[in-house]
Amino acid sequence: MAGPVGRPPKMSRFTPLPSERIAEWHATVSDSALRALDEQLLLDLLVIEEVDARRRQVATIVSDYLRTADRETAAKFELRCRDLGVAASPAAAAPLEHSPRRVDAGRAHDSEQVPPLQPPGGIKDSSGEMRERYLSAVGAAETAWDAAAADGAIDLDAAERAIDDLADAVTRDRRLIVALTETEESGHYTFTHMVNVAILMLDQARALGIDGQLLRDMGLGALLHDIGKVLTPKEILDKPVRLTPAEFEIMQRHTVDGATILRRTPGMPALAPVVAFEHHLRLDGSGYPAAARRERLNLGTMMCSIADVYDAMRSQRTYQPAYPADRILAVLRSGRKPQFDPDLVQRFFELLDIRLPGGLASL
Ligand SMILES: [Fe+2]
Ligand SMILES: [Fe+2]
Repeated sequence: MAGPVGRPPKMSRFTPLPSERIAEWHATVSDSALRALDEQLLLDLLVIEEVDARRRQVATIVSDYLRTADRETAAKFELRCRDLGVAASPAAAAPLEHSPRRVDAGRAHDSEQVPPLQPPGGIKDSSGEMRERYLSAVGAAETAWDAAAADGAIDLDAAERAIDDLADAVTRDRRLIVALTETEESGHYTFTHMVNVAILMLDQARALGIDGQLLRDMGLGALLHDIGKVLTPKEILDKPVRLTPAEFEIMQRHTVDGATILRRTPGMPALAPVVAFEHHLRLDGSGYPAAARRERLNLGTMMCSIADVYDAMRSQRTYQPAYPADRILAVLRSGRKPQFDPDLVQRFFELLDIRLPGGLASL
């Protein structure tokens, strides 16, 4: 079960920074979080220190930072540390030894896969720009949603621009943009989920060598996979507890409604309604729409479904905790017959460097 954190910890690894650099970094983000992951202590996307190796120094860095931060930021930061069971001052450094080895679903930190160290200015610029791209895509998702709700169709140009921007981000710095799907908590779940699934789809597709128009089509399909939920009654969509069977039946209509909206949108690639229609269908014949049967599912659908389940399960909601990676993997591999393509599942977890009990070999 997940720890007290809503989101899994970060995956990028950069050089340790002196305290003034941390303050500088902190000034660029709205909600920094200090997190423990195995022997490392993470401040947002930065690994600031190896806990086991230089625990005291970490505590000093954090403490220095807290001394220079304004009162509100420091209070927020300290509260966050306490939430996470991580020490926020030298005096409280001892509990670090007893903090959970893994706060939440973990990431592999394979030193051979660590990106080259970058100067702090580069980190700030790159991450700030990526974050802007991410947030702008969340805005585009919201616009698409509003248009679908108001007009029954979406603005294809705006959605395509968002996907092209995300595809470019995946090409330029996939680690950073993928890390944002794990760390960015701003905005409404519906819209961040749309963007996260799109990024995780683009990342999988690029890793398979898919590019050009097909990459864009797959990204659009992922971004808009749940667009049919604009027609789901709000009380069902936002219900903070488990749906009743009758409500679940109504919610299931979002697959058909989504395909209808996307088919109605002029110029929409044919793949997008296919993905919307199929994304809850499983390879073993289970899933919905219940009457639909497929010999096999579209590759775009299969990758979207894996990203969809992964992002939904790792996100903390009012009615569910954030699940750790091994639990998500168990769901993706459950059933006597595979529901999700086993090769794609394996590739997905390898792509994200996800550490599981027993290592990747346990896949
Ligand atoms: Fe869905
Ligand atoms: Fe979804």
